Formats: sequence, structure tokens, C-alpha cells
Amino acid sequence: MEMDSKICLLLLSMLVLVSVSVSVLANGVTTSSHQQLKVFNVKSFGAVANGKTDDSKAFLDAWNKACHYKGGRGRRLLVPRGTYLVWPVVFEGPCAGPIAVTVRGVVKAPVDKSTFSLDHWITFQYLDRLLINGGGTLDGQGPEAWPYNDCAKNPHCLRLPISVRFNFVNNTSVRKITSLNSKNFHFNVFACHDLKFRRIRIVAPDESPNTDGIHIGESSDIKILDSVIGTGDDCISIGPGSKNIEIVGVHCGPGHGFSIGSLGRYPDEEDVSGLSVRHCTMEGTMNGVRIKAWASPLKSSAYNISFHDITMKGVRRPIIIDQEYCPGGGCSPQTGSNVQIRDVRFSKIRGTSSSQVAVDLICSPDVPCKNINLDSIDLAYPGGHAKSYCVNVKGESQGEQRPPSCI
Ligand SMILES: *[C@@H]1O[C@H](CO)[C@@H](O)[C@H](O)[C@H]1NC(C)=O
Ligand SMILES: *[C@@H]1O[C@H](CO)[C@@H](O)[C@H](O)[C@H]1NC(C)=O
Ligand SMILES: *[C@@H]1O[C@H](CO)[C@@H](O)[C@H](O)[C@H]1NC(C)=O
Repeated sequence: MEMDSKICLLLLSMLVLVSVSVSVLANGVTTSSHQQLKVFNVKSFGAVANGKTDDSKAFLDAWNKACHYKGGRGRRLLVPRGTYLVWPVVFEGPCAGPIAVTVRGVVKAPVDKSTFSLDHWITFQYLDRLLINGGGTLDGQGPEAWPYNDCAKNPHCLRLPISVRFNFVNNTSVRKITSLNSKNFHFNVFACHDLKFRRIRIVAPDESPNTDGIHIGESSDIKILDSVIGTGDDCISIGPGSKNIEIVGVHCGPGHGFSIGSLGRYPDEEDVSGLSVRHCTMEGTMNGVRIKAWASPLKSSAYNISFHDITMKGVRRPIIIDQEYCPGGGCSPQTGSNVQIRDVRFSKIRGTSSSQVAVDLICSPDVPCKNINLDSIDLAYPGGHAKSYCVNVKGESQGEQRPPSCI
């Protein structure tokens, strides 16, 4: 009797196995039970993965099935190894529950000019609990498009697509993903809450135009951790309406460094507050840590900002506040900035400046900077004595001060 029931069980489980593999063939869907995620493989939805055929329909079909899959505890869109050409896509929620997008392959953006004037390549929007991971690469194929961004040389210049946009996305984690050669910014974070980037790599050449690594605006509780960002423009830029931003263990370079702003460009901008940048290295960047505000009558403020334990290696302007920002001119010289910058702490900033003015704090006569704190600054200028320069700055300094503090 016992033997019989064992054989019976065995037969039963074989039957189950067979029916599972049949359902794999039938639906193009598998279940990886150990993580209880239902897997939707783009190849099962017709992705060709030859790097030439447009695979966007397969990606969208897989996304729509995954996103709306009910039952189980989670759903995964899988992009296995291989090279995929994907035209501009929007991955939109809400989904039935948490969703993972696991990219193991290389996904390439189109080089067709008709896509150059769109604002995005890949957009994720209206999502809660999204995970993006897998060690794969998103290749924006920027070199084909960058010449169109140069308005000085090209009268038909275009505002090129941002590689990855997150719009209205919450509780999200982006891990172990490489963004290569975006046409415009690599990542744009807009109206998101609780979003974390960890161990990501951002790669583009020094001379690539407008390729900010990560731009954040109108968002809160954003973390960028243990990542490497080398690009042509700002490493990370923080725009109006950003609150509680933590940046820890990031290596920047080449590029223009960390930037808050530009602020005071548009009416009714929201404040920037609660920014902590710690344990980071800037290597060969144009700026180290910078706050910039337009010389304009528009009001807003930036406060509760801390830069701590930052190593500068041959950075042109390691510490800079610029309230006379006016690229291209056209600002009235009588108007200082009306953006209030206050409660900003620079502590344990050390290394080398590649220009003589290592600390450059230019604030507005109309709205001087308040409570600016320099604590333990050690910046050397290999060509001579480093200097610091202050205009309209109120605050104090403590600890070692090289160059001698101007506050
Ligand atoms: C994200 O969070 C915000 C703030 O809690 C909320 O208003 C919004 O509806 C959420 N969006 C999604 C897509 O969950
Ligand atoms: C993130 O998820 C947690 C748990 O589901 C929830 O309590 C929190 O409100 C979410 N955050 C946002 C901004 O939606
Ligand atoms: C200042 O910002 C930090 C985040 O960097 C936050 O934890 C803290 O609560 C903020 N302090 C105030 C007084 O808002």
C-alpha cells in the first residue's frame, strides 16, 4: 500500500511537471517559485534580441501582462542576456502589486532622428514598489544624437530625449544597472517618493552635452548610494521641490560635479531642503559641490544642506555658491538673486583644487547667504596657495581652514 502511494505521488508530480512545461510553452510565462515571482520574459513575447529589430512591442506586451498579473506575491519583467533595440516606451502603472524589471542584457535606444525630439526613451510612471535590477545596460546611443544638441553649430538643434524618466513613482529601488551614453540626462526623477539608487554606474564621455547623471525635482526621500557616475554634465543635480535627499558613497568624474539648482528660474518654485551628501569622491570634475541661483527677482530658498567627508581630486572649483548665475547673459546686473540660501554646512572637505580659488562663495546683496558653516577644510592648490573668496556671506568656520576661511 505504502509503495503504491509513493509511486502514485511520483506519477502525480511528473504529471504536474509536464503540465508546467506545457503551460510555459503555451503562455510564455514561467514561475520561479523560490521568490514567488511570476516571470514574464520579453523573448517569450517575441523580442528578437538581434540589436536591430525593434523589440519595443515585445517589451510593452510583457510589461502589460506582468503589470496586471494578479495572484502570487509579485511579478517580474525579465530581459535576458542579449542585445535589444527598443524604441521609446512608457511603462505605466498602477500595477496589480510590486513589480520587478530585471535587465540582464543590453537595451539600446534608437538612432532614428524621428525619436530625437521626444522627451524620453524609457519612462516609468504611476508606479508603487518597482524594482529595477539585473546587472544589465541601458545604452542611449548618445554619440549619434549629441551633434543635434549643439545650438551654436546646428540651427536646427533639438532638446534630446532623457534616457530613463521616473514620473510619480514611489517605494522604488534601482540597483546594479548601467546607463551608458544617454542622449540627454541619464535619469530624471520627477514627483517621486522613496526612491533609491544603489550600485548603479553611469557612463558617458566628458564632452557629451547635457548628460546629467541623475536629476531630481519635486521629489522626497531619494537616496543615491554606492554608485559611480562619470558623465559630461552634472553628476547629480537637485532641482526645486527636492526634500530629504541622501547621497552616500558616490564617485563622480568626469563631469560638472554635484549641483543644487539652478534655482530662481521660474515663478513659484518650491524650496530645496534636507540634503546630505557624505563620503563621496570627486575626481577631475569642473565643480565639486555647488549651489547655483539665477540673478533674478524670483524668490525661493535652499536650506538644511550638508556636505560631509568629500574628497576632491583635481577639482576646478571644489566649493562654490553662485548667486549670480546667468549663463548666456540677459540678467539685469542690478538684480541679485532672491533665493535664500541658509543652513549649509561644508565639513571635512579635503584634497586638491586645480584652480587657485578653492572656496568661492558669491551671494546676493539683496538676499545674503545665512548660517554658512565651513568646518575642517583642507584643499591644496598644487600651483601655489589656495584662496577662498566670499561676497555677502554670513556664517562661521571651525577647525582646520586651508585655504584660510573668508567667512
Ligand atoms: C506616491 O506617494 C504620494 C505621496 O504619498 C501619493 O500622493 C501618490 O498617490 C503615490 N503614487 C503612487 C503611484 O503610488
Ligand atoms: C511605501 O510603502 C510602504 C509600505 O507599503 C507604505 O507604508 C508607504 O506609504 C509607501 N510610501 C509611499 C510614498 O507611497
Ligand atoms: C535636515 O535634513 C536631514 C536630511 O538630510 C533631515 O534628516 C533632518 O530632519 C532635517 N532637519 C530639519 C531641522 O529639517
